[in-house]
Amino acid sequence: MLIVGICGSPKKERSNTRLLLQKALEAAADVLSDGDSKQATTLLLDISDYEIRHCTGCDSCVRKKPCPESTHDDMPKIEEILLKADGIIISAPSYFTSVPGVLKDFIDRSRYIKMQDHQLKDKIFGAITYAGLRYGGQEHVIDILNRYAIAQGMIVVGSLGSPVKDGTFGSGALQTDEGSWRSAKDDELAIRGSQKLGIRMAELVKRLH
Ligand SMILES: Cc1cc2nc3c(=O)[nH]c(=O)nc-3n(C[C@H](O)[C@H](O)[C@H](O)COP(=O)(O)O)c2cc1C
Repeated sequence: MLIVGICGSPKKERSNTRLLLQKALEAAADVLSDGDSKQATTLLLDISDYEIRHCTGCDSCVRKKPCPESTHDDMPKIEEILLKADGIIISAPSYFTSVPGVLKDFIDRSRYIKMQDHQLKDKIFGAITYAGLRYGGQEHVIDILNRYAIAQGMIVVGSLGSPVKDGTFGSGALQTDEGSWRSAKDDELAIRGSQKLGIRMAELVKRLH
């Protein structure tokens, strides 16, 4: 059983979405490993570690031909890992209420996997986001990621915590309600939402396995 997390932030140092993704994967690993910490059950990929060229719109993938860009970049490496996954979590910051360009390049280029008869079909999917502002487009980012997953044939889940205290996904903001600033490591709700997402995904992966 494997849950793969993709951090869609272009930065690695002090990335808020990376921290939340780590929290989700740690929580998932606890559930999947059944106390055996030696068993590798999760993997975190930073999209910024990979060279991903833009989709040129050539439609080779529609004709089920290999993507011409894939001979020059790292997309095949990512695809190979994703195909092994039972669950996939993508975390992404809000960039103008959408996902960063590096992640959008990954999304567009992964059309090849969809055209190969939905090879990500039936994998469990969850999304995490973080934004600068309290109302900074978080729900748009989650929506973009969840719709992407549905188009790939994945099964979309959210975090499942207290129906009155917890949100539906891992999400938060640098800006506090008082208007001051923090990072995700001090954002309890965002951390809890991310952990709950990891737990929910791991439980479902286990059940389906
Ligand atoms: C190009 C760019 C665009 C951004 N657009 C928004 C935005 O529309 N709304 C918002 O609240 N924050 C915005 N931010 C702030 C990021 O969402 C915020 O810093 C987030 O924590 C970054 O996540 P990361 O630390 O994982 O990279 C933007 C940041 C950058 C660099």
